[in-house]
Amino acid sequence: MLKIAVCVSGGGTNLQAIIDGIENQTITNTEIEVVISNNKNAYALERAKQHGIKSICISPKDYASREEFNEDFLKQLNSYHVDLVVLAGFLVVIPEQMIKEYTNRIINIHPSLIPSFCGTGYYGLKVHEGVLSRGVKVTGATVHFVDEGTDTGPIILQKAVAVEETDTPEVLQRRVMEQAEWIIMPKAIDLIANGKVTVTDGKVHIG
Ligand code: GAR
Repeated sequence: MLKIAVCVSGGGTNLQAIIDGIENQTITNTEIEVVISNNKNAYALERAKQHGIKSICISPKDYASREEFNEDFLKQLNSYHVDLVVLAGFLVVIPEQMIKEYTNRIINIHPSLIPSFCGTGYYGLKVHEGVLSRGVKVTGATVHFVDEGTDTGPIILQKAVAVEETDTPEVLQRRVMEQAEWIIMPKAIDLIANGKVTVTDGKVHIG
């Protein structure tokens, strides 16, 4: 059984897709051990509660320094003994030490086709604003392993989504979630839970 921690900051629709996937068995061999939020008002926490899933809140704002936060974040995460950490709209930079200890055991969902519209400053609606202002015709979402860079780790799954001329950032964000994120995030977890994902030379092999 793959034990996962899901880290969230906001609405938690990707968390919901994971919960639903486990309940309807499109994700097998997996259980959510804990939901971790940096924001005590995140609706994601309510979703966890409704499904009887443990949750904790840990925010850099409550620590005297970033170092203290990083240390305690890692300590708390370690106490749950999870096999995989899933970043599902988590807007906190992952501490370097955590990345070292969890190499190829942290995955992230990003709402574009990496390497486009990713890296520092590209998160949430900003990604879709960038897509619309550049006028690309196709966007999408990417699930990748987390390494020391921002959105630079090995790519697990990607799915393309059409951009329409009348799109607003909000409309496009919703389409990318519905047609890509809520599909590839559960699928990536299921593949990992069933031993189908390996990483060689920075590239993911599935099968
Ligand atoms: C999602 O669109 C996710 O891809 C994005 O934040 C949103 C969270 O929504 N993540 C990033 O931009 C990370 N760089 P959710 O809380 O409803 O799952």
